[in-house]
Amino acid sequence: MSKGIFITATGTDIGKTYITALLVKKLRDDGLNAGYYKPALSGAEHINGEWVPGDCSYVAKTAGLEVPARSLTSYMYRTAVSPHLAAQIEQHPIESGVILADFIRFTKMYDYLTVEGCGGIVCPLRLDDKLLMQTDIIKLLQLDVLIVAPSGLGSINSTVVTVHYAQSQGLTVKGIILNHFDTASYLHRDNKACIERLLKLPVIACVGDHAGNVTLDTAALCGLYKEVF
Ligand SMILES: Nc1ncnc2c1ncn2[C@@H]1O[C@H](COP(=O)(O)OP(=O)(O)OP(=O)(O)O)[C@@H](O)[C@H]1O
Ligand SMILES: [Mg+2]
Repeated sequence: MSKGIFITATGTDIGKTYITALLVKKLRDDGLNAGYYKPALSGAEHINGEWVPGDCSYVAKTAGLEVPARSLTSYMYRTAVSPHLAAQIEQHPIESGVILADFIRFTKMYDYLTVEGCGGIVCPLRLDDKLLMQTDIIKLLQLDVLIVAPSGLGSINSTVVTVHYAQSQGLTVKGIILNHFDTASYLHRDNKACIERLLKLPVIACVGDHAGNVTLDTAALCGLYKEVF
């Protein structure tokens, strides 16, 4: 039986890919069959005449996944805007059935599947005749979520708002990972304490700038993943 988790954040460019890569690497380094999937990606990179899904290639390279990066996402858009708008511009609408089928295929390949979302928790994937939000996909895949938040000024607000929104959508938040964490900073240490107290949820890891690994017990990390299908 495969297990999965969905990584989202308080916004875009917060460090979902950076931290997901470290989580998948940790599981794989400890001998577990761990994989990565990104349902949709906008803002693909143009490298040597080829369009590349940057997040997928970063995670594949960091975690040692020997598969083509393009195979790790169902929808790749060149336009660097919200997926619903990129899909509209490039006339390639997102179908939830395609994502579900690809996700199920991945669960048959890996024991621990880490799924990276787009942007923050509120992210439209489709806003045409159909309305499809990222939260609909998380529910469809029956995954719990981890929230990546930047440590620093404003972190308490953005983290609490994000967690409450996720919970209002019926999602289970398993914990928070604080990124850009500076253990020497009293502000960062206070962020962690406040967030845990206000949300009654654990900050499962604090990741410093340019960290090469995430300090977290592998068994505890595995315990956050939920059995899927
Ligand atoms: N702990 C860190 N140390 C150093 N650089 C970091 C760290 N976390 C994130 N970054 C850098 O910040 C930038 C944004 O991070 P990342 O791409 O992981 O964000 P994201 O949340 O996945 O963004 P997107 O919403 O586009 O998927 C990247 O250049 C990444 O290398
Ligand atoms: Mg990313």
